[in-house]
Amino acid sequence: MIIADKKLKGNIFLAPMAGYTDIAFRTVCFRFGAALAFTEMVSCEALVRGSRKTFDLLARGEEEGPLGFQLFGSDALTISRAVRIVSSHSPFIIDLNCGCSVPKVLKTGSGAALLKDPEKLYRIVLSMKESTSLPISIKIRSGWDANSINFIEIGKAAEEAGASMVTLHPRTRAQGFSGKAEWKHIAQLKKALKVPVTGSGDLFTTEDIKRILDFTGCDAVMLARGAIGNPFIFAGRLPGCREKLLTAMEQLKIAIRYKGEKRACKDMRKHIAAYSKGLPDSSRLRNNLIRASSYGEYQKIISEYLSAHCSKTT
Ligand SMILES: Cc1cc2nc3c(=O)[nH]c(=O)nc-3n(C[C@H](O)[C@H](O)[C@H](O)COP(=O)(O)O)c2cc1C
Repeated sequence: MIIADKKLKGNIFLAPMAGYTDIAFRTVCFRFGAALAFTEMVSCEALVRGSRKTFDLLARGEEEGPLGFQLFGSDALTISRAVRIVSSHSPFIIDLNCGCSVPKVLKTGSGAALLKDPEKLYRIVLSMKESTSLPISIKIRSGWDANSINFIEIGKAAEEAGASMVTLHPRTRAQGFSGKAEWKHIAQLKKALKVPVTGSGDLFTTEDIKRILDFTGCDAVMLARGAIGNPFIFAGRLPGCREKLLTAMEQLKIAIRYKGEKRACKDMRKHIAAYSKGLPDSSRLRNNLIRASSYGEYQKIISEYLSAHCSKTT
C-alpha cells in the first residue's frame, strides 16, 4: 500500500476514535499487524492556543508504527497553523476530520459540517498542503443528510486540492451510527478518484474485511468498533479466553507507562468490558473490576478469573 509515494506494510488501519485510540491501544493494534493507526481527533484551536492536554494527544509510544494525526477544525488559517505544529512531530500522514457528528463539534463548523461547503473544504485542504510536505488525507461521511449526499463532490474537491487519500464512512451525519454502512458509496468513490480510497463502516470480522475489499475495490480499510477489545482482528484470527485477558493486561501495562496508574486503570475499564464480552461469567468479572484502581488489583482479579474459567493454554 502506497500513499503519496510513502510505503506501508499493509492496508488494514486502525481508525481514529475519540476516547479510545490512545498510545496503549494503538501499540497493541500495531503488535497484531495494523499497518497505520490514527490518534484521537485533535482540536486545531486548542493546539494553536497551546493547550498542554491537547499536545499530550500527539505523544507517541516507543513501539508504535506509522501514525496519522487526525485534526478537527473549521477555519483554514487555524487548521494550517495546526498542521505546521503537528508536522514537527513527524507523523506518517495528517488527516482532517470531516465526519464527526457530535453537536458540540458541528456547532463550531467542524467535523461533518465541512461536508456542507465543498469549496470551503477545497480551500482548507489547499492551505493544509501549503503548510507541510507530509501527505494530507480527509475522512468523510456520505453527506450531511439523505437529501445532500455529496461524497463524490467532496472527495474530488479534496483530491484536486492535493489530498493523498480519502476515507469514507458511508453513513450521513444525520444517521450517526444507525442503519447500515452503504458500502456501494465506497465503490462509487473508488471509481471517481485517482488517490487511494479507504473504506470504513461495519467491519467486525476478518470476513467483513474481505467482503468490503472485494465489493468496493477500495485500497485499504479502517477498523473502528470492530477493533475495540479485539486487536486480534489485525492478525486475522480469533483469540482464546486467556489470550484476550492477557492482551488486555499488556495494554494496561503500556497505558500505565504513559499516563500513570490511576488514570490508566480508569480508562482501561471500557476496554476490558470489550475484551471480556462473550466470556463465561463476564458480567461478574466486569463488576469486580469496577473499583480496581491499581495494576495489582487488576492482576489479582484477572488471575482468579483465568484459573476459574480459562484453560492453561488458550
Ligand atoms: C467511540 C468512537 C469514537 C470515534 N471517534 C472518531 C474520531 O475521533 N474521528 C473520526 O474521524 N471518526 C471517529 N469515529 C468513527 C470511526 O472512525 C469509524 O469511521 C466509524 O465508527 C465506522 O466504523 P465501524 O463501523 O467499524 O465502527 C469514532 C467512532 C467510535 C465508535
